[in-house]
Amino acid sequence: MFAIHTLQVLKRTPARLPVRHYTQYLKEHAYINGAWVSAKDGNTFTVKNPATGEELGRVADLGVAETQDAIQKAYDAFYTWRDTSAKERCEILKKMFALMVQNQDDLAKLMTAEQGKPLAEAKGEIMYAASFYEWFAEEAKRTYGDVSPAMTGKRGITIRQPVGVAGMITPWNFPSGMITRKLGAALAAGCTAVIKPAEDTPYSALALAMIAEEAGLPAGCMNIVTSSRENTPAVGKVICESPLVAKMSFTGSTATGKILLKQAASTVKRVSMELGGNAPFLVFDSADVDTAVAGAVLAKFRNMGQTCVCANRILVQDGIYDEFSKKMAVAVEKFVVGNGMEAGVTQGPLINDKAVQKVENQVKDAVALGAKVLIGGKRHELGHSFFEPTVLADVPKEALACREETFGPMAPLIRFKTEEEAVAIANACNVGLAGYFCSNNISQIWRVAEKLEVGLVGVNESIISAETTPFGGVKETGMGREGGKYGIDEYLQYKYICFGNI
Ligand code: SIN
Repeated sequence: MFAIHTLQVLKRTPARLPVRHYTQYLKEHAYINGAWVSAKDGNTFTVKNPATGEELGRVADLGVAETQDAIQKAYDAFYTWRDTSAKERCEILKKMFALMVQNQDDLAKLMTAEQGKPLAEAKGEIMYAASFYEWFAEEAKRTYGDVSPAMTGKRGITIRQPVGVAGMITPWNFPSGMITRKLGAALAAGCTAVIKPAEDTPYSALALAMIAEEAGLPAGCMNIVTSSRENTPAVGKVICESPLVAKMSFTGSTATGKILLKQAASTVKRVSMELGGNAPFLVFDSADVDTAVAGAVLAKFRNMGQTCVCANRILVQDGIYDEFSKKMAVAVEKFVVGNGMEAGVTQGPLINDKAVQKVENQVKDAVALGAKVLIGGKRHELGHSFFEPTVLADVPKEALACREETFGPMAPLIRFKTEEEAVAIANACNVGLAGYFCSNNISQIWRVAEKLEVGLVGVNESIISAETTPFGGVKETGMGREGGKYGIDEYLQYKYICFGNI
């Protein structure tokens, strides 16, 4: 029954989305069971453009009852979606990929309007996000099991099955990519999803629902529950505690992750968590200084420093420290700060004032402990949530900037003398997502890559995320991997079937 329905949907799906101006993606409704819905009490919340402070629009403010409804609908849809063939799921995901690519420009403008990142970066994120649909479309067909031969008169067969409804709580820093990295894997595996996007960036999530609808994804497979900052904890709790949700995937802070983990324990859910990072970026004397500066600038200031994999502490060896710090300040001085919609802008605003306060506090703390401001150091004259791209020299490792994730455009430079000292500083923290280092000494490269206590390592390279490779961390950064050939495992479980009397 369902297969016929899906095939019909595939046939009538248009090759292109109707051409839309990006403002036509400003949906006011949430998306449940293939319908665009309001909150039961009619409440909405405001979404602002962080570059101008202006209201972009209002979105349905859903609560507990609507979240339970979305979960029920995803649960009902699971029993048909899981029985589609991998090829059918692959076809729909490929259409979702193609529609994202075709609409890259407008989806990117929408993202810049609500999140602030420069348009070129937003376009890059749309392609990055779309790549997860393409990758998992292909992986859908490769969820092999196996046969165990070592039994007398019996055969043990292991198959892999979708876990069920997947709850997803996603962040504002990559409003599309962090959804598709989870959703692509879940849908490919045969799971359905209830997604709670960040309250700062609901429009990019709703645009993904429009795309899924156009691609013919059946009702109930992808549900978007939008909610305000006030309602978000209650919505998250329902997702974590519902017995109908089999799996929970969260990207966000370690503090929130710990709360969600406790809630998910009540139903012993499968969880994957990609939480905070405090990435070290080590530059050894053997490195090429210009390449290292370019890499550090990219690793630190991408998305205005608001990525979990951003270089958070830049450790530079004594022999090249002075040259490196001068060149880093010169490179950062060239940034153009402004509204990400404007041509030539390389640094947009931070997401909100709370984010600015955090950077401001870290700068004050570091300076009080003896750090020198090489460039920047304060709120930008453009106002709103703009902060000057900042480089601080001689930051002591006790400073907040070294102990906490900054999530903003500030690079603290730390001087070190030996490899052992650098690795010890790098590993002296409770989280471990990304780590980077620059070296041209092959023995050192092997040693340091193996010793860094992180899930991702960039060696002479600072852009390391890709749909083809596993993303995730160690320690309090969480558990599970997204992307790569491992990403789909998070949404599958093993079942052993014993065939007897053969
Ligand atoms: C993140 O900041 O959580 C994601 C960054 C990435 O995928 O590169």
